[in-house]
Amino acid sequence: MSESRAAFDQGTEPSSDEQIAHGGNLAQACQQWGGSPADWLDLSTGLSPYPYPVSEVPSHCWQALPYLQADFLAATQRYYRPSLLPDSYSMLACSGSQALIALLPYLLKAQPILLPELGYQEYQRAWQLAGQPWRQYPSWDEPSAALHLDQQLALNPRQHLLLIQPNNPSGILFSQQQVLNWAAALDGTLIVDEAFIDQRPEQSMLNLASLPNNLLLLRSFGKFFGLAGLRLAFAFGSQPLINRLQQHLGSWPVNGPSQWLAKQGLQDQEWQQQQRQRHQHQMQAQQQLLAPLLRAWQVSWQQQQGLFCSWLLTPKLGKELAELAAKERILLRYWHGPKGTLVRMGLCADLPRLATFTAKLLSAHSQD
Ligand SMILES: Cc1ncc(COP(=O)(O)O)c(C=O)c1O
Repeated sequence: MSESRAAFDQGTEPSSDEQIAHGGNLAQACQQWGGSPADWLDLSTGLSPYPYPVSEVPSHCWQALPYLQADFLAATQRYYRPSLLPDSYSMLACSGSQALIALLPYLLKAQPILLPELGYQEYQRAWQLAGQPWRQYPSWDEPSAALHLDQQLALNPRQHLLLIQPNNPSGILFSQQQVLNWAAALDGTLIVDEAFIDQRPEQSMLNLASLPNNLLLLRSFGKFFGLAGLRLAFAFGSQPLINRLQQHLGSWPVNGPSQWLAKQGLQDQEWQQQQRQRHQHQMQAQQQLLAPLLRAWQVSWQQQQGLFCSWLLTPKLGKELAELAAKERILLRYWHGPKGTLVRMGLCADLPRLATFTAKLLSAHSQD
């Protein structure tokens, strides 16, 4: 029996036999609210709206069996810099960290895991499906999360721990030193999911010269590079764990076109720099545009990360927002819980449309 308990019930989230709702499902939005995918402005994901420009893929990438190519691995090495890591560390590439998340509860020692109350729900689902115990810790702000984790680990160090750095959707991010402290306090694996760290790569655990053997670092390619359809991620961790994961993934974990395209993006440092500046500039403009609305709504909790911003609304405001957004064909992400409705808005490349939408929301609010 699982010891699981959902403190923040994510109203739209599934029971164990349903699919988890993710952002970016325009077909489902059209079915629910109408319109065609082209009508919608999709702000429901944390993917960059500025994808790395994909060029034509040479025919050999489609035709040959996709063994990991030396030039792809060299580009990976240069971007993630795992050469700094201890010899006891290994790396693997796979088609999205989702594939690893589903395997982890079967491959880690059978003991409870601490999962963030707010965070990528596929972890909870994976532990639930594997019949392994999980518990939640508060993940709305760093101090209460840290206090809870310190207490839990002091009570029972024989646990695994998941940190999402930065957390999606709550945006919280712990210092590298704090992560190392928890790794030292744990008699289990500390999974650090850095799917959204690329905007601030200096904060990645991969920058440290020395890492403990009980860390497993996950990096997703699709978010910062805006190419989620490519399905590519990397894991860094102790050799025995990486080998086990590799064995379960089987041969050819990354297809040929993905290797070829990702290699271009990973090598292109000038584009990466521009991408970071573009994200920063655009998020600032987006925040400025939203500020009067958030003030009018008296939003008490908000966070922003490079690729998304989140706020907590009363259920009434959450409902009003969802209705108007659907009418305006703007797709957002909502989590309904006892504290209210958490809304996540991805980085928007179409600010004029967002400005019109914001003005309509402000005017609807002033008529309330
Ligand atoms: C925190 C986090 N980790 C992992 C994933 C899975 O990413 P992927 O399978 O594309 O690597 C997501 C997807 O949204 C995510 O938000």
